[in-house]
Amino acid sequence: MQLVVTGATGTIGRALVGELRERGHNVVALSRDARRAADILGSGVKIAVWPDPAQTSPPAEALGGSDAVFNLLGEPIAQRWTAEAKRRIRTSRVETTRRLVGAIRELDPDRRPRILISQSATGFYGARGNEWVDEDSDPGTDWLAELTADWEGEAAQASDIMRVVRTRTGVVLSPDGGALARMLPFFRLGIGGPVAGGDQYVPWVHLDDVVGALIACLENADVSGPVNITSPTPATNAELSRALGRALQRPAVLPVPGLVLRLLYGEMAEVVTSGQRVRPSGLLGLGYRFSHPELNGALDEALHG
Ligand SMILES: NC(=O)c1ccc[n+]([C@@H]2O[C@H](COP(=O)([O-])OP(=O)(O)OC[C@H]3O[C@@H](n4cnc5c(N)ncnc54)[C@H](OP(=O)(O)O)[C@@H]3O)[C@@H](O)[C@H]2O)c1
Repeated sequence: MQLVVTGATGTIGRALVGELRERGHNVVALSRDARRAADILGSGVKIAVWPDPAQTSPPAEALGGSDAVFNLLGEPIAQRWTAEAKRRIRTSRVETTRRLVGAIRELDPDRRPRILISQSATGFYGARGNEWVDEDSDPGTDWLAELTADWEGEAAQASDIMRVVRTRTGVVLSPDGGALARMLPFFRLGIGGPVAGGDQYVPWVHLDDVVGALIACLENADVSGPVNITSPTPATNAELSRALGRALQRPAVLPVPGLVLRLLYGEMAEVVTSGQRVRPSGLLGLGYRFSHPELNGALDEALHG
């Protein structure tokens, strides 16, 4: 297939593009920086420049004639949420998805891709304590939850012209980026531990399963709408800390008070001081077989290969 990937240079995008290429697909990566993207992705991937995704349309020639689009771009969430950072986090998801869908709609119908797999996040559900949530659960009401619902809403606009899947992805375990990469230095020094009491659930998922699930969504013509991409065994933050300490053979007992995180990161601290106990009902219903369904095995693989 001819597949377009936005955010292809990111943690998830790089892994996805690698696997798509392994399977023999042609990949066109949309990036703000062609040279950097070529360095990261290598010569087998065609690069098309989308210089300012929140302000300009993606290049129509890159989308026309393709079979499917994976929409994975977005300003990093894990930064202090100043007013300006919030604007970037929001526009880099909501506006860009609107422009992507608008550009697909403008293509001649016989040149349009037939599938849009648009990234979303478990932040959609907001802070839920130990309540189980799945794809049928209501959205949350905090800033990130509302942003995520708007982000999904833009993707869903394309449902009349193509099959649209909204992948509500959890906390991705990869040593190369995301939450685990940020936690590792502290745990390696033996100064990691449960955050803000540790009772909140972490909807973790191994990067291999993010890639596997995205490809399952591509290949399965019956899948549309929201799909949770999380492991079937969400852990509490305290369980994740213990498992990380075990995998690194370091103590993981130093609690990190929520107040300290709020002082350091402001409102963004909510992302780690609260959480969701997510069930991947859509993937389980599809018969998707997780490569790393258990936390200890997933961490061992992510950390030691
Ligand atoms: N990693 C996770 O745990 C996780 C969990 C749930 C959801 N997600 C979501 O999944 C998507 C991909 O995650 P990721 O971890 O792979 O992200 P990432 O490593 O931060 O990469 C995202 C890519 O988006 C592009 N980008 C960054 N800032 C941008 C901006 N302000 N405007 C336009 N493009 C921008 C960059 O590509 P170029 O520089 O090449 O343009 C970057 O490589 C994100 O939307 C993220 O929120 C991630």
